[in-house]
Amino acid sequence: MPTGHVFIATSLDGFIARTDGSLDWLIRPEHEGEDHGYDAFMSDIDAIVMGRGTYQAVLGFDAWPYDKPVLVLSRSLAATPVPDALRGKVTFADLTPQAAMDHLGAQGAARVYVDGGQIVQAFLREGLVHDLILSRIPVLLGTGRSLFGALDGDLELTHQATTAFLSGLVQSRYLVRP
Ligand SMILES: NC(=O)c1ccc[n+]([C@@H]2O[C@H](COP(=O)([O-])OP(=O)(O)OC[C@H]3O[C@@H](n4cnc5c(N)ncnc54)[C@H](OP(=O)(O)O)[C@@H]3O)[C@@H](O)[C@H]2O)c1
Repeated sequence: MPTGHVFIATSLDGFIARTDGSLDWLIRPEHEGEDHGYDAFMSDIDAIVMGRGTYQAVLGFDAWPYDKPVLVLSRSLAATPVPDALRGKVTFADLTPQAAMDHLGAQGAARVYVDGGQIVQAFLREGLVHDLILSRIPVLLGTGRSLFGALDGDLELTHQATTAFLSGLVQSRYLVRP
C-alpha cells in the first residue's frame, strides 16, 4: 500500500481557494526567489491523486504541470474520455480513497501526492495520509474552499518542523499519528 502525502497552501483561515476556485491570493510576487520545497517534494512522488475540482483548476494552467501519473477521482468524469492531450498522463476513476490507493499501489506507486480539499479530507478520514506539508499565506479570505472538514474523531498530528519565509509564508510539516 502506498503512503499519502499532502503539500498544500492555505490562507491563514484555512482556505485553499476562494469559493469560485480562484488562487489569486496565493501566487504573490514576494514569493519570487523563495524555494518552498515543491520540486524536492515532487521528486520523491510516484503518482498524484486529485479531485475533479483540482483537476479542473489545473486544466486552466498554461501547460500540464505534472510528469507523474495523475488519477482524478470523479463520479462525473469517470465515464468520460480523457482529453487527447492528456492521454497516458491522466486517468479518471470513481473509486473510494482506499481503492484509489490500492490501484496506484498495484501500478507500483509507493508515495502518492494527495491533492484537493475534499480529497484530502476524504483521505484523512480514512487514515490514508502519512504527512502534510502545509504552507500558510498571511491573508484572511473569510470564506472559500476549506482544506479541513468534519472528522469521525480527533486526529492527532506530530509537528516536525516549521520554516518562516521572508515573504511571510509559514510552512509546517506534520506527521499524522497512526
Ligand atoms: N491552495 C492549494 O495549494 C491548492 C491545492 C490544490 C487545489 N487547490 C484549489 O482547490 C480547489 C479544488 O479543491 P476542492 O476541495 O474544491 O475539490 P477537490 O478535492 O479537488 O475535488 C472534489 C471533487 O472530487 C470528486 N470526488 C471523488 N471522490 C471523492 C471523495 N471520496 N470525496 C470527495 N470528492 C470526491 C467529486 O467530483 P464529482 O462530483 O465529479 O464526483 C468532488 O466534487 C481548486 O480551486 C484548486 O485550484 C488549491
